[in-house]
Amino acid sequence: VRIDLVGVATASGASVRGCGMGPEALRVAGLAEALMDLDHAVADHGDLRRAQTSPSTHPSSARMPEERKADVLEMAARISDAGHAILQSGHVPVFLGGDHSIAMGTVSAVARYCLPRQKPVHVLWIDAHADYNTPQTSPSGNLHGMPLALLCGEPGFDEAFQGDWLGRIDAHNVTILGARSVDREERRLVQARGIEVIDMRKIDQIGVVAAVQKVIDKAKAAEAHLHVSLDVDSLDPAIAPGGGTLVPGGLSYREAHLVMEMLHDCGLVGSLDVVELNPFLDHGGKSATLLVDLVASLFGRSIMGEEPGPMEFVTE
Ligand code: ARG
Ligand code: MN
Ligand code: MN
Ligand code: MN
Repeated sequence: VRIDLVGVATASGASVRGCGMGPEALRVAGLAEALMDLDHAVADHGDLRRAQTSPSTHPSSARMPEERKADVLEMAARISDAGHAILQSGHVPVFLGGDHSIAMGTVSAVARYCLPRQKPVHVLWIDAHADYNTPQTSPSGNLHGMPLALLCGEPGFDEAFQGDWLGRIDAHNVTILGARSVDREERRLVQARGIEVIDMRKIDQIGVVAAVQKVIDKAKAAEAHLHVSLDVDSLDPAIAPGGGTLVPGGLSYREAHLVMEMLHDCGLVGSLDVVELNPFLDHGGKSATLLVDLVASLFGRSIMGEEPGPMEFVTE
């Protein structure tokens, strides 16, 4: 497979600074090398970042929300165009965040690519959170808590959020895996729209194998493009401390790898986000290294080192 890395060096959607350094930490942890070891061809497009950096571009809550919103939307449009071009070349884009608001752009790219091809887009959102707030329901105002709602066409986003860059997905084709912190209003919306939430309790009850198999079966039946959006905070903070919105009780090391191995074997994953890694909060690269290993599992690394099966993706 030809994999194209796209760094998005931004934290404008978050309230905690530092995840703008995420792409570089993933590179230092050996992401490209790990993928090349699996016999993939890897291109690194470098980082998308705002041309202007000034003290006011940091995402501290002291900053004007409107200013941070403009950052997020500018980046989303650029991500969407960059991702769309990569998909049109027949490559698999791997987006390195950056906070989770970048998914406004990444999933849009996938949706725009798949729409004329009549290929349904299924999204597996692996996260402690649902990221389904709207500007009305959000308790924090942080845009990294809102990408899924925007992508699913939830009302409440003003016209600044609209544009040719924005693609839409069907809420019925979204599965949130690993949730354990969902805001009250957000919970109501997620339930009303029919989004499947496999929360930690459900995982404890049925196990990750049954949980992921469900997602795979559905995507397979629909002949869908499966987009995986991996938030570092889906993982247990003990194994992945490098995030700004950690919640106890996350996926274990072994659960997370098994999820990735199953996703590899299904052959349906055509694009990936790795988001919310905050190297400033990480412990000596522990979370970055784990994320690299998880991405390697998703792209075919296995314990006994079998040849990875072909990844299915659409070419022109
Ligand atoms: N639900 C909270 C909010 O909307 C937290 C969101 C955290 N999102 C994330 N991508 N880490 O503010
Ligand atoms: Mn998230
Ligand atoms: Mn999260
Ligand atoms: Mn539907």
